Amino acid sequence: MLENLTAQPADKILQLMQMFREDPRSDKIDLGVGVYKNAEGQTPVMRAVKAAERQLWEVETTKSYTGLAGDPGFHAAMADLVLGKTADAGQIAAAATPGGTGAIRQGLELIRMAAPDATIWLSAPTWPNHPSIIKYLGMNMVEYRYFDAETRAVDFNGMLTDLSNVKPGDVVLLHGCCHNPTGANMNAAQWQEIAALLLAKQAVPFVDIAYQGFGDGLEADAYGVRRLAKTLPEMLIAASCSKNFGVYRERTGLLMTVTQDVGKTALNQGTLAFLNRQNYSFPPDHGARLVTMVLTDDALRADWLSELEDVRLGMLKLRQQLSDALRKRTGSDRFGFLADHRGMFSRLGASEAQVQAMRESHGIYMVSDSRMNIAGLNEASIPILADAIVSAGV
Ligand code: LMR
Repeated sequence: MLENLTAQPADKILQLMQMFREDPRSDKIDLGVGVYKNAEGQTPVMRAVKAAERQLWEVETTKSYTGLAGDPGFHAAMADLVLGKTADAGQIAAAATPGGTGAIRQGLELIRMAAPDATIWLSAPTWPNHPSIIKYLGMNMVEYRYFDAETRAVDFNGMLTDLSNVKPGDVVLLHGCCHNPTGANMNAAQWQEIAALLLAKQAVPFVDIAYQGFGDGLEADAYGVRRLAKTLPEMLIAASCSKNFGVYRERTGLLMTVTQDVGKTALNQGTLAFLNRQNYSFPPDHGARLVTMVLTDDALRADWLSELEDVRLGMLKLRQQLSDALRKRTGSDRFGFLADHRGMFSRLGASEAQVQAMRESHGIYMVSDSRMNIAGLNEASIPILADAIVSAGV
């Protein structure tokens, strides 16, 4: 049987991680996988998470199962973080999942159960695992224009034009903030227009929000998802805690459905629990419990907010410094978009050959589509990257 297996396509982000590990150069620079790093290149456990972990060690008396959909306290704390007061608890069904990817996967399975023929609309480009999972599940997908390769901003007219072809019941996958891989994001007015368009088209939004707090701040980053929840009769949300709580390896995520028709919530909740049971039974709890403790304890929450804000402002500063360094070297503002982008990533707009040249000559690792993890930079590596960008002829 096993001889029938064939090699599966490699994930380019994970492949790059491997190449970086294997590069013996000590001055190599990792701008690949989306993991936050401080100026020393470390991914620390956040202070509030560490403190919660200490408390949990003292008070936790059992490792017995939680609920099939996870702990309702985690659902409530995360629903409040993502949706604020936009939706009532009675409108929301939720299931804890192994990370944001787990939430995407469970959300797609839910969609496949409810509407097997629905088409999933994806931004061009998007996180490569989106189309990979959709293809694996045998679902239909099509791309909508999102990124203008010239301006490195959102191609909003292209997006509107393409989404005007959405059919009733189709699903439109949107990045809640900090678009991965481009770093280009919609403003509030554009979110309003998209929400109105999806309503008119009777489409179902599915929002992937994995970087809340990394862009313009926790509240501002939730503007789009909240606008959709206010406007549309129903939607899905996949939220990740990997980045904003730094609990990557704990696999902490949440899938939510939000519906205006509160009579549907119990069925949605039961279906989410059923899907958990089919795929992995009970979801991981440790990360979810830490996140819940941080969000519901005033002191832990305040400390987390302050550290998250430092992380966000640190990335903004790196963006500005890189943009300034390139202005100085090129005498032009054509890299000004780096300071305008938000979140962990920016798509530089380099060709694959230029990306490869930077890797070979300077040990700089970015994804082949020229996505850079801004958090991989520090004051010492910015001039090296700026030189490499100029000498590669980007
Ligand atoms: C990324 O885009 O780099 C992260 O979301 C990590 C991953 O799993 O790809």
